[in-house]
Amino acid sequence: MAWRTTTASSSTSSSLTNVVMSKIERVTGTSDAMTNACALLLCASVVGLVTLKLSRKMMMMSSSTSASERGGAEGDKVAGRRKPTTLRELKCPSGADGARVITFYYGTQTGTAERYAYTLVEDAQKRYGAKQVLARAIDCEDVKPDFCEEVLSSEKCAVFLQSTYGDGDPTDGSADFCRWLEETATDGRMPDMLEDMHFCTFGLGNRSYEHFNAAAKQVDKALTALGGKKMMKITLGDDDKSLEEDFEEFKEALWRQLEKTFQLKAEGEEGDFDVEKHSYMIKKEEDAEKVNELTKIRERKSFEMSRGSEIPTQAKPYACPIKSCKELHTGKSDRSCVHVEFDVSQCKGLTYEIGDHLGVFAENAPDVVDRVCKLLKVSKQTPMELVRRDDAPKSLLPVFPGPISVGIAVARYADVLSMPRKTAIKALASFATNKKEAKELEILAVDKAKYHAYIAEPHRSLLEVMEKFPSAVPTLGAFFGCVAGRLQPRYYSISSSPNDMTNGSGIVTATVAVVKHKTKTGRVHEGVCSTFLQNVREGDRVPVFVRKATFKLPKDAKAPVILIGPGTGYAPFRGFLQEREYLMKSKKEELGECMLFFGCRKEEHDYIYRDEMEKALSESVISSLDVAFSRDDPKKKVYVQDKIQMKAKDVYKILRSPNGAVYVCGDAKHMSRDVNRALLQVLQREGEYAIHEAEEIIRRLVVDKRYMKDVW
Ligand SMILES: Cc1cc2nc3c(=O)[nH]c(=O)nc-3n(C[C@H](O)[C@H](O)[C@H](O)COP(=O)(O)OP(=O)(O)OC[C@H]3O[C@@H](n4cnc5c(N)ncnc54)[C@H](O)[C@@H]3O)c2cc1C
Ligand SMILES: Cc1cc2nc3c(=O)[nH]c(=O)nc-3n(C[C@H](O)[C@H](O)[C@H](O)COP(=O)(O)O)c2cc1C
Repeated sequence: MAWRTTTASSSTSSSLTNVVMSKIERVTGTSDAMTNACALLLCASVVGLVTLKLSRKMMMMSSSTSASERGGAEGDKVAGRRKPTTLRELKCPSGADGARVITFYYGTQTGTAERYAYTLVEDAQKRYGAKQVLARAIDCEDVKPDFCEEVLSSEKCAVFLQSTYGDGDPTDGSADFCRWLEETATDGRMPDMLEDMHFCTFGLGNRSYEHFNAAAKQVDKALTALGGKKMMKITLGDDDKSLEEDFEEFKEALWRQLEKTFQLKAEGEEGDFDVEKHSYMIKKEEDAEKVNELTKIRERKSFEMSRGSEIPTQAKPYACPIKSCKELHTGKSDRSCVHVEFDVSQCKGLTYEIGDHLGVFAENAPDVVDRVCKLLKVSKQTPMELVRRDDAPKSLLPVFPGPISVGIAVARYADVLSMPRKTAIKALASFATNKKEAKELEILAVDKAKYHAYIAEPHRSLLEVMEKFPSAVPTLGAFFGCVAGRLQPRYYSISSSPNDMTNGSGIVTATVAVVKHKTKTGRVHEGVCSTFLQNVREGDRVPVFVRKATFKLPKDAKAPVILIGPGTGYAPFRGFLQEREYLMKSKKEELGECMLFFGCRKEEHDYIYRDEMEKALSESVISSLDVAFSRDDPKKKVYVQDKIQMKAKDVYKILRSPNGAVYVCGDAKHMSRDVNRALLQVLQREGEYAIHEAEEIIRRLVVDKRYMKDVW
């Protein structure tokens, strides 16, 4: 029943295909980008021709749809919104017919800060009207260092929405902008550069990370040092709790402050969310068979293109065949962690280095798709296509390519397992036919305490809310426009080396811990992407792209290194070990000392890649292997940080050697902090340093890129 077995017999329809193709292209004005977009429905549609059933395997077939279509941050840079990018566009317009210009700058990795910026633009415009305010949004990525001074000093009122990533770093896109700000602020030569600018900052971060909102704090500090007038104290949004609520509070405080500082008067209420404007129009295709056939053609084209020298990106990922997927835990474990091999041999553009990340676009599980379609009262096979209205607000995401069946659209694009935003609840309320449900939803959408208690605190998902209020059936246009967010790609630290002596550069591997836990509402949350990857089989195609990282071994193979990676934190180190083996055996290089610290719960449950680690030790690819089992001894939990303490002398030697380097990968919430503390203690004990001296040594190692973290 899998699509692979039926593809060979489906060569009957090429002439039909051509007819359908040209017909729909005329209707939709299909561009190359559109054509490229539906990558992997190819085989699904072939089966669809025969059975018109969307099986699990079909759901697996993923597209090389652009991020704009998926609604990712990068995508918005590709299509959809017209963003200011030239110096002339970026500089604050002086006249603006007497209206006060308010610019919302954003630095984003996964699109939240961007969404907030556009929401603020719309709300400010609605609240104050065009006569009082001209609101605009600017992506910090587009303000190149050469432009920064001119652009920022032209501003009178600017709001900065800055996300923090990595280990307290700015987002990839805003890194240059933030660096410029910090350097200019620290050199102290322009303390009045921003004297005309009123500003404030909203940080997007997560308190569980060691450097909570570090990038936003840095931006706020630099703007102050450059003479900017701070309108209000920095707001530190916390994604660990409810960023949505923090943002709402910030927004209210911001309006009060703007009204006070600039004597603005609220004219309209941004509260009346216009569901219709935030919905797409839906073009319904009448013939499901034709849609499937068309999609098949597009996907084949796209796949053939990706096989060339093109570099897959988030905007245009590669529909990568799976080579294998195997369980790494033993049968005794009640959890799962899978080793997934992606066959990239046919995609010459996909290159990577050890330490890089693999971006993966997953799909919702079939039962989730079934439940959503049932709630939407629509058959999964219904073909549809999104169309943006002419007056669509800027915050409305670009359309994803169609025609497409509703089932596949829900599987690939709808984020239904995250908490619903307040605007989503407002939209649902407007569709509820049951008066009681409508009332309850309306209250939830406006009452902070109720939203907190019912949604944020128990982390209730959109799907749960829709199931609780079944009379609220949004149109497909509203569902994709303002009820469900877009499913985002997930990242995995690549666990192979392109120089692996067995597979070479043709295979990229990921080591994936399968997320499964009970939430406070009693629901079992199965991680979207990890569960999807757990179920992939040889030959399935999954859209992927590589994100470059700086987590690399020292250039000099002789430099001594310490690798600390419990659980899936071992992932990049598997690549490091393959690389060292290659250097030693093929390049005949002399290797420096390498201490590997690994940790898991029980030796007989989740000691993943044990054979490989032990082989590396026996062949001197690594010089020591210390494994901490946290649950083998019921009386004493042992973690990697304890093992580091036990090897304090050797660890100290590497920390204090002129070219030694430390690498930490895995859990950011506890492990990386505990390891940091252990390293400080080693320095204090073995080197007899005072705590502030030990901290300074660690700080210098970080600056010199000799203490690197890949934590999540
Ligand atoms: C740079 C980087 C490298 C990474 N490398 C690896 C790696 O090598 N291996 C690896 O296994 N992972 C890695 N990750 C993590 C990975 O990207 C995913 O976050 C992870 O696989 C979970 O994704 P998911 O879609 O399965 O789970 P999701 O569905 O996204 O859920 C993940 C978590 O979010 C919370 N959550 C989300 N929705 C709800 C809800 N409705 N109710 C309750 N809780 C909810 C839960 O805490 C849950 O555990 C990495 C992450 C980054 C950023
Ligand atoms: C890999 C990773 C690293 C992160 N690092 C930090 C961090 O160091 N400090 C912090 O406060 N938040 C951190 N965060 C949380 C994000 O900043 C937060 O989720 C934010 O809402 C993302 O906004 P964006 O969608 O605009 O990129 C991290 C998130 C991820 C996924």
